[in-house]
Amino acid sequence: AQNAKESLYIVSQFAASFFVKQLWETDEGKGIGLSYFKERGFREDILKKFEVGYSPDVWDAMTQNAINSGHKLEFLEQTGLSIKNDNGKIYDRFRGRVMFPIHNFTGRVIGFGGRTLKTDKNVPKYVNSPESEIYHKSNVLYGLFHAKKAIRDLDNCYLAEGYADVLSVHQAGIENVVASSGTSLTVEQIKLIGRFTQNVTILFDGDAAGIKASLRGLDMILEEGLNVKIVSFPDGHDPDSYMHHVGAGAFKTYIEENRKDFILYKANVLLKEAGTDPIKRAGIIRDIVESIAKIPDQIKASVFIRECSSLLEIEERVLLSELNKIRSAKS
Ligand code: UTP
Ligand code: MN
Ligand code: MN
Ligand code: MN
Ligand code: MN
Repeated sequence: AQNAKESLYIVSQFAASFFVKQLWETDEGKGIGLSYFKERGFREDILKKFEVGYSPDVWDAMTQNAINSGHKLEFLEQTGLSIKNDNGKIYDRFRGRVMFPIHNFTGRVIGFGGRTLKTDKNVPKYVNSPESEIYHKSNVLYGLFHAKKAIRDLDNCYLAEGYADVLSVHQAGIENVVASSGTSLTVEQIKLIGRFTQNVTILFDGDAAGIKASLRGLDMILEEGLNVKIVSFPDGHDPDSYMHHVGAGAFKTYIEENRKDFILYKANVLLKEAGTDPIKRAGIIRDIVESIAKIPDQIKASVFIRECSSLLEIEERVLLSELNKIRSAKS
């Protein structure tokens, strides 16, 4: 089994190198893939660092190239890079897409995300590698290999949603960033961050889905005993679009100045939702205390109760009795 696994790593690295070569050295790759990245504002050093590539828009270019180089179809199929249809015909999973290789935290390629260049709404924006012997989505953070040193040194991990976000945040000079990419945040991913730092800063998209995901994410992070802050982005921007919109310097400043702790963040989001409805506003308090109740460390929790009390102008003892109610309901 160990040998079979090694074979999957090897074909994955072969494919990654193939896609890189296509991007930089072929007319199709340069004309379509590289110019796409350039139009989005990505620098060449960032593209090279993350080993992004291009998959040609033909049926089986990668598969044929791999087989001609002596790789076994069996392993190509097991990584999902090659697919056999009902008629026994083999084709490439990734065709005509820009390619983001996914590395495990020791730096080996274990899967891919491929972005379409089409604007057609019926085409999925990203196609991802399926689960395999070497790729378990829920245990992987995109970018961790390139970020882990900075995460340790800076004792903080920025957590974004997507591939492009990781590249753009890096490009702004912030290297301690990873993304949950292709799955909603999992407990395993949070535990993985916890091996490098106890501090997470969420940088999710500024759209409805991103805000919802950040509320869910912050509760999960608190439950794992980590500290969490949130930076939100205006006008539906995500970290990638915002970085290119305002430029690297302004982006860095924005991140540093707009880091909110979860109480303030939740209060802002929920107060906006509730408007002037007094019943809804009362519900917000319970909602925030529910997040505080997830914090395993009682002393930390009491610090946040105090902050919540001054922020929302509610007596601490009211909040504490709410906290105890939630806690006793849980146990
Ligand atoms: P987004 O829809 O926010 O895409 O999904 P994005 O990262 O901003 O992509 P760009 O900037 O348009 O290129 C966030 C992440 O969710 C996963 C991808 O990992 C994506 O980066 N995703 C999204 C998929 O796996 N499949 C999809 O069809 C869409
Ligand atoms: Mn590599
Ligand atoms: Mn999004
Ligand atoms: Mn996005
Ligand atoms: Mn984006």
